Amino acid sequence: MMTHLHTIIRGHGSPILLVHGFPLDYTMWTGQIDGLADKYRVIAPDLRGFGRNEPVMADAVTMDEFADDLNDLLDSLDVAEPVCFCGLSMGGYVGFRFIEKHGERLNSLILCDTRPGADTEEGAMNRRQLAGKVLRSGSETAVEAMLPKLVSRKTNAERPDVVEQLRGTIQTTDPQSIAAALHGMAVRPDSTPLLSKITVPTLVLCGAEDTLTPPDVMRDMAAQIPNAEYVEVPETGHMAPLEDPAAVNAAIRRFLVQ
Ligand code: MLT
Repeated sequence: MMTHLHTIIRGHGSPILLVHGFPLDYTMWTGQIDGLADKYRVIAPDLRGFGRNEPVMADAVTMDEFADDLNDLLDSLDVAEPVCFCGLSMGGYVGFRFIEKHGERLNSLILCDTRPGADTEEGAMNRRQLAGKVLRSGSETAVEAMLPKLVSRKTNAERPDVVEQLRGTIQTTDPQSIAAALHGMAVRPDSTPLLSKITVPTLVLCGAEDTLTPPDVMRDMAAQIPNAEYVEVPETGHMAPLEDPAAVNAAIRRFLVQ
C-alpha cells in the first residue's frame, strides 16, 4: 500500500526533492523552500512517521522503504521530468538507496552532511539502545541525545531560534517513529561501493564544524564520486542548510546552473 506523505510544494521549474534528516521534518528546509522556489519546483516531504504524517506502527523503517515512499510520491505528483535529489544526513542515506533503486529519475544529487558507510557494530548497538530509551521515556531522550550535536558554536550562541526550532521538532516527533528510523539506520547497507557508480553531477555540502558527519569524511566521499564538487560552509554544523541558508542556497544555485 502506498504511504501518503505530507509534502510542501512550492514554485515552478526543474524539481528539487528536499529530504530531511533524523529525527526532523520538512521545516529544516524552510530556508531552501523560501530561497529556491523562485526558480525551481521545490518538493519537501515529511518522511514516513515524521512531521505531520501519522506515526508508524512498525519496529523498523528501512532506508529502502523511505526511498520507495519518495518514488511513489513523485509518481503521485506526476513528476515525469528528472529530479535533483537533495538529502541531509539520514536523507542522504535514503538518497543512496534511491539512486540504487530509482536512479533513472535523477539529473543531479546534493548530499548534505551525510556519510556513505554503514554503522559499526558499536554504532548500531548505540542506536538500538537509544531506540529502547526513547520508547521507554519519550522523545525528550532523543532531544538530549541529538540536539547538542546538531549545530555549530556560532549557531548555538547566536541563533537560539534555530536551536529551539530543532528542539520543538524532535520533541513533537512520535517515539515509535524515532525508534523505527533508528532501527532502519542500524541495518542500512554500506553505500561506499555505490559512490564510483554515481553518474549524475553531485554537490557534496558540509558544515565546517559538523561533528556527526565531519568534513574529512565528506571530502573523502566526494573524492570517490566521479563528477562531484565539494563545498564547505563556514561556521555551520550538521544542520548547515538551516544554520546558513543564504550560503547553502548560493552553493545550490551555482551547482544547478552548471
Ligand atoms: C541525521 O541528522 O539524520 C542523523 O544524524 C543521522 C544519523 O544519526 O546517522
